[in-house]
Amino acid sequence: MKSTSNKNVFVSKVGAILAAAGSAVGLGNVWRFPTEAGEHGGAAFILIYVLFMLLLGVPIMVTEFAIGRHGGSDVSGAFEKMSGGKKGWRWMGMIPVVSGFLVLSYYAVVAGWTLYYAFEALMNGFAGKTAMEFQTDFVAFSSDSLHPVFWTAIIIALTCGIVALGVQKGIERGSKIMMPLLFVFIVVLVGCSLSLPNAHQGLQFLFYPDFSKVNGSVILSAMGQAFFSLSVGLGCLCTYACYFRKDVDLMKDGLSVAGIDTLVALLSGLIVFPAVYSIPGLRPDAGPSLVFVTLPNVFQQVFGGIPVLAYSFSLIFYLLLVMAALTSSISMLEMSAAYFHKNLRLPRPLAAVVVSVVCMLFATFCSWSFGDWADVRIFGMGFFDLFDFLVAKLIMPVGGMLMCFFLGWVVDKRVLRAELTNGGTLRSPLYPVFRFIIRYFAPVCILLILVNELGLFAFLM
Ligand code: PFF
Repeated sequence: MKSTSNKNVFVSKVGAILAAAGSAVGLGNVWRFPTEAGEHGGAAFILIYVLFMLLLGVPIMVTEFAIGRHGGSDVSGAFEKMSGGKKGWRWMGMIPVVSGFLVLSYYAVVAGWTLYYAFEALMNGFAGKTAMEFQTDFVAFSSDSLHPVFWTAIIIALTCGIVALGVQKGIERGSKIMMPLLFVFIVVLVGCSLSLPNAHQGLQFLFYPDFSKVNGSVILSAMGQAFFSLSVGLGCLCTYACYFRKDVDLMKDGLSVAGIDTLVALLSGLIVFPAVYSIPGLRPDAGPSLVFVTLPNVFQQVFGGIPVLAYSFSLIFYLLLVMAALTSSISMLEMSAAYFHKNLRLPRPLAAVVVSVVCMLFATFCSWSFGDWADVRIFGMGFFDLFDFLVAKLIMPVGGMLMCFFLGWVVDKRVLRAELTNGGTLRSPLYPVFRFIIRYFAPVCILLILVNELGLFAFLM
C-alpha cells in the first residue's frame, strides 16, 4: 500500500472504494429499499432497479469519478478544468455545494430517528410493547417538537466531528472501521431472519417476480431508487473522487461500489421480508414506518419468549441503521464543507461547523413538518417532503443528465479517455459502451424521468 503525504487524498485504493461505498450504502439501502420494494410488489421492482443500477447508475457514478479526480482537490473548479478552461461550465461546480445542504437537512432527520431507536433498543425500551403501542409511540415521537430534533442534532454533531478530522483521519478511517462492521452486522441479521418461521414467503416476495405489478410508476420509482442508493447526480461522488489517487481504476471502482451497494440492499431485503412474513397478518407494503413500527414489533413477537434474542436483534439492527446513515451523512456534509474550506479558506473544522449549523436549522423545519408545522405547505408539500422532492426527484436527475451531457459532448474525448485509462496505462474494454451510454442512452432515459417530474411540478403549481 502506497502512502501519500498529501492530506487531501485517500491513502489507499481500498479506502477510496470504502469511502465511496460508505456514501452509497445508507438508509437508502436499509430503510428506503425495503420500503420501495415492499410498496411496488417485490421481485419485479428489484429486477428493474438492478437494471437501472447497471445501465444508468454505474455510468453516472464513473462520470462523477472522472470529473472529480480530473479536478484535483477542488470540486467547484473541476468542471471548468475538465472542459479545458471554459468559464461557462464553472457554475456546475455549485451543484454539490447546494445539494449538500439540502440532502443532509432531511436525511439527518431519519438518521436521528434511527439513533433514538438504537438508544431505545439499548435501554431495552421495546420489551413487552404491543403492535398498537409501537405505532402510537412512533407517531408521538416523530411529531414531537423537541425530542426528534435532539437526536437529529446528535447525528449532525457526530457527522461534523468526523468531517472536521479531515479526509484521511475522518472520512477514510471512519469508512474503514464502519463498513466492515456494517457487513458483519448484516450477515448476522440475515442468518437470524432466515431462521424465522415462514421465511420462505419473504424469499418468494423478494425473488419471484410478478410482472403484472409493473407499471410506469414502478419503473420510475425503481430508477429513482437506483439514483438515490448510489448517491449519484448531486456531485457527491465527484467530491470524493477529488481525493482519489491517480492510479485508481475508475471503471472498476464504479462497478465495485455499485456491487457492494446492490448486495447490501438485497441483504437488507433478506433481513426485513422474512421477518415481516414471520407474523401472520403483517404486510410488506407498510411504507416508511416498516422499519420503525413493523420491525420492532416483529422482534418482540418472534423472540418474545427469549428476551435476550429480542434485545440483541433489535440493538444490532438499529446500530446497523445508524452506521449506514453516518457513512452517508459524512459524504453529504463534505460536499458543502469542502467548498467553504477550499474556496473560502475557512479552516476545515470551522467549515464543517458552519455547514452543520445551517443544516441543523433546515433539519429542524423538516422535523417539525411531521408535527407542529404539518400544515405549513410549499407547492403542496411539507418541508421534509419538499426537500426530498427537490433532491431525489429534481436535482438528482437534472444533475445526472447534465454531468453525462458535459462529459459526453463538452469534454475533449482524449481527455476523457486519458482519465478513464489512467493516461493509457489501463485496458478499458468497457470504454466504448460507457461512452455510448453517457452520450445517448443516459440523457434520453433521464429526460424521460424529468418530463414526468416536470409534469408533476406543473400539476402542483
Ligand atoms: N446513497 C445514500 C443512501 O443510500 O442512503 C444517500 C445519499 C448519500 C444520497 C449521498 C445522496 C448523496 F449525495
